[in-house]
Amino acid sequence: MKKFLIAGNWKMFTNVFESKVLVETLIANIWKDNQNTTVLVCPPFTSLCGVADVIKDTDLKLGAQNCHYEEKGAYTGEISPQMLQYLGCNYIIIGHSERRTHFKEDDEIIARKLSSILDLGLIPILCIGETFEQRMNNMTNTILTKQIEKAFENIDKSLIKQVVIAYEPVWAIGTGISATPEQAQETHRWVKDFISSTYSVNREDLTVIYGGSMNDKNCYELLNLADVDGGLIGGASLNAETFTSIIETAKSISKI
Ligand code: 13P
Repeated sequence: MKKFLIAGNWKMFTNVFESKVLVETLIANIWKDNQNTTVLVCPPFTSLCGVADVIKDTDLKLGAQNCHYEEKGAYTGEISPQMLQYLGCNYIIIGHSERRTHFKEDDEIIARKLSSILDLGLIPILCIGETFEQRMNNMTNTILTKQIEKAFENIDKSLIKQVVIAYEPVWAIGTGISATPEQAQETHRWVKDFISSTYSVNREDLTVIYGGSMNDKNCYELLNLADVDGGLIGGASLNAETFTSIIETAKSISKI
């Protein structure tokens, strides 16, 4: 039986009021029989408190979209993983391509964030992915190798199975063009094989989710792939009906 993680990355959308309405609608839509599908919402920082309050008696999980690697300090404008833990976040997304590109986050910063999150017992969602040009030049596996090796360089290797990997091809994010099922399966299989052989981790213990223009129309064929363990969904998670439909699809596949 397949288990899924279906995560909504709301990016810089929804103020606190809109966030609460979105999550209330979601709860009304989906809240029963969810054993094999974990549903996670990652609103903007300013909505975390409000959303935490709305979901407190449900199985819905809360995540943040980023964090700093230090616990506290003179880092104006930053938020520490400890602060997020106090708000009830179980997951923190790191290494998203939008942060790598617009905020110049490199593999070293991402590695430090990864360690801090793991030290707290929280679950990091480590985003990796290649650009279109890199894929065209057959560099996908080289790029993913570097991103994974750098992220895992200094962590206790026994913690690797706690890390969720989100394979997000940069060219598929927000473009409406998702990876084809063949591309997604091939890359997810490669990521699992690479991590399990390099770090001696059980392949079955790894969670690799797909992100990049996943929606209610293409989620069935993507989630049905052998090595796809869920989705990290941007645009389609901002609409309660569409996100519900993706969750219901995951639930139905997990029962097969
Ligand atoms: P879209 O689903 O909007 O393509 O975004 C994917 C993503 O970046 C999730 O982190």
